[in-house]
Amino acid sequence: MILVTGGAGFIGSHTCVELLDAGYEIAIIDNFCNSRPEVLDKIRTISGKDFKFYEADLLERDKVEQIFEENEIEAVIHFAGLKAVGESVQIPLQYYHNNITSTLILCETMAKYGCKKLVFSSSATVYGDPASVPIREDFPLHTTNPYGSTKLMIEQILRDLYVSDNEWSIALLRYFNPIGAHESGLIGENPNGIPNNLVPYVAQVAVGKLECLSVFGDDYNTHDGTGVRDFIHVVDLSRGHVKAVEKVKSTSGAHAYNLGTGTGYSVLDIVKAYEKACGRKINYKIAPRRPGDIAMCYADPEKSKKELGWQAEYDIEKMCKDSWNFTIKNS
Ligand code: NAD
Ligand code: UFG
Repeated sequence: MILVTGGAGFIGSHTCVELLDAGYEIAIIDNFCNSRPEVLDKIRTISGKDFKFYEADLLERDKVEQIFEENEIEAVIHFAGLKAVGESVQIPLQYYHNNITSTLILCETMAKYGCKKLVFSSSATVYGDPASVPIREDFPLHTTNPYGSTKLMIEQILRDLYVSDNEWSIALLRYFNPIGAHESGLIGENPNGIPNNLVPYVAQVAVGKLECLSVFGDDYNTHDGTGVRDFIHVVDLSRGHVKAVEKVKSTSGAHAYNLGTGTGYSVLDIVKAYEKACGRKINYKIAPRRPGDIAMCYADPEKSKKELGWQAEYDIEKMCKDSWNFTIKNS
């Protein structure tokens, strides 16, 4: 059985569907601090399969131990964490405590029960402002906000854990910009309040909930002056986790992998693609740069292709189409 922490969240829910489709039994632990219980039934509906669910906080050690006591956990995919960059600057202690302490409790419990296979949700944010693109896994690591620092510190903790005990097998998956939704429109990204991220914001402008997108900067050194990112369909990203589980089951080590498409699209490219997907005009205005943003960020996905046997399949049209389908079904 695979334990999925944060399995009710955006990426976790899609990954649970892919794991169930691949024939894995799963257990989910989530405290719903950034998700809703309804998601669980939607995972069941899409996959046609059932699973175990524990409503608990990873910080509650006895609850985490109970899961390992009651189930034969073979590997863990660890999504649970707080993820808003801006908020992490406001409440850093909560970010460090929630993200790092929960990982320590999880790993201590795993070690206690002899489960040493882990797939961890890291982020391209660990590359900071890269000297060049595409970004390879061996580029220098650097962070600029508490959220990013939690990811980098956890990567370091997990590398140290492997050095201390070579039976561990750990995949550090560095996600680029996951967007889109399951094509059923049942699960997707549903942020509380006004979205921080580009595509959820564009979706709300398209559906009429928000009036106008602010494009943060049009004077970057990119093909149209707006920021360039490696947008990846969440279903492709989720399939990368199934491959990573297979990898950690068959090897040992602590290895980082980029999960991105290798192609960069600008903010205005996304606006155009989304207009095409929804058949509506997206109002936008040029606004000042957002502090902390970088000009360009996209992956070199070769290592994942070679070592995990994974590559992204879906293009930007499909990402926008599935995001729009989810948005109209859930507004
Ligand atoms: P999400 O917020 O939708 O999912 C995280 C889930 O973890 C939520 O369901 C939340 O309720 C749960 N959770 C948080 N803290 C918990 C705790 N202490 N105990 C139990 N459950 C807890 O986020 P997501 O977009 O699915 O991201 C998943 C992971 O991937 C996170 O670690 C995030 O930092 C990382 N990541 C996300 C992105 C992105 O753009 N979405 C990019 C890079 C990395
Ligand atoms: N953008 C706008 N207007 C908006 C929102 C975003 O123009 O309203 C622009 C940004 O300036 C940036 C691009 O759209 O150029 C993408 O911004 P997002 O906020 O969607 O994504 P980021 O690349 O800034 O950040 C994401 C995740 C972080 C993660 C980082 C690196 O949100 O958690 O990727 O992996 F750290």
